[in-house]
Amino acid sequence: MTAERTVRVALGARSYDVVAGPGLIDRAGAHLAAALEGRRAAVVSDTNVAPLYLDRLRASLEAAGFAVTAHIVPAGEESKSWDGLGRLIEELLAARVERGSAVVALGGGVVGDLAGVAAALVLRGVDFVQLPTTLLAQVDSSVGGKTGVNSIHGKNLIGAFLQPRLVLADSAALDTLPRRELLAGYAECVKYALIDDPGFFSWLEENAREALSGAGAARARAVAVCCAAKARVVAGDERETGRRALLNLGHTFGHALEGAAGYGGALVHGEAVAMGIAMAFDLSVRLGFCAEAERARVLAHFAAAGLPTAPPRRLAADWRARDLLARMAADKKARDGRPTLVLARGIGRAFLHRGAADADILATLEAALPS
Ligand code: NAD
Ligand code: GLY
Repeated sequence: MTAERTVRVALGARSYDVVAGPGLIDRAGAHLAAALEGRRAAVVSDTNVAPLYLDRLRASLEAAGFAVTAHIVPAGEESKSWDGLGRLIEELLAARVERGSAVVALGGGVVGDLAGVAAALVLRGVDFVQLPTTLLAQVDSSVGGKTGVNSIHGKNLIGAFLQPRLVLADSAALDTLPRRELLAGYAECVKYALIDDPGFFSWLEENAREALSGAGAARARAVAVCCAAKARVVAGDERETGRRALLNLGHTFGHALEGAAGYGGALVHGEAVAMGIAMAFDLSVRLGFCAEAERARVLAHFAAAGLPTAPPRRLAADWRARDLLARMAADKKARDGRPTLVLARGIGRAFLHRGAADADILATLEAALPS
């Protein structure tokens, strides 16, 4: 008896399972053998994750009859670049990846996003499997088929939609995740609650400590709720023509902060999302959509969890609100050079808004920057 939970992402012929539970890396071979026709796996991982989990994954895959090659990229957001993508694709070709091969991402969102674009491009597309090892990747980036690398013009501006054939989220892998990264992933969990699930937000207020500690069942429940939410949204709007855009709550502000910080690890993605969510609620209050008490409750929860809600002075002393606004206008969701924002009428009541004036967005950015 294993403690596996399965969520199905219902996309017709491209449907797939997201399986979560402890020990899945060691059982990956059997799962992949059941989901894939081919028996060649090109595992992509990073310099932090590979020493921890690659040998176990390789053993499991080989025991199930897979021929395995391994491709290790430097840990960190800087690997999600055009150059990094080119190097990975050449390495996959040198390893004689075939049409029947699967690219298998073992790592966080960086490895998943990078390996996903490579899988979409190499030989015009091969199978793709995700084994997410960060909380962020388990609740968000491994599900839904968005892959991407960064451009000098902004975050995730180069990429493709490629649904994985299978996602295996080994909850035990989170035991080795640094606390800062765990918290960053927690920001994405809170995001789902803030979009449309006020009951989940109240539950998180009660259970964040247990969910973050990993003791008890709270973390597994939080991951399951988030995966189910993501699966529902993706099944209804795979290509983000509507409701999926709500999943970007905090991201238009957050991506601008990540760009200003330079992708070098000074600010990690989930931290930028937490700050971006705080800014989205600030703007929502300024524009009269949201009560101040709701914003205060969100900020209080982030603070209680240990997440930042504004860029620290050491990072942002020289940042200018106008530069951040220009970065926001380069976001993928911008229309006619204007950012599309996800704002909120309250906790669990997010909506898309295109009409915010520069002066209001600038006021929010200025209020968040160190004075
Ligand atoms: P990450 O992949 O950089 O991982 C964070 C750090 O933790 C890295 O240093 C990594 O080596 C290390 N690590 C990973 N798993 C570990 C483990 N089990 N034990 C010890 N160390 C481990 O970052 P992330 O937060 O997972 O992902 C962020 C990226 O995801 C961003 O680039 C963001 O744009 C992207 N993202 C994509 C989507 C999507 O839908 N595709 C959604 C959200 C975020
Ligand atoms: N992380 C946003 C999305 O997958 O749409």
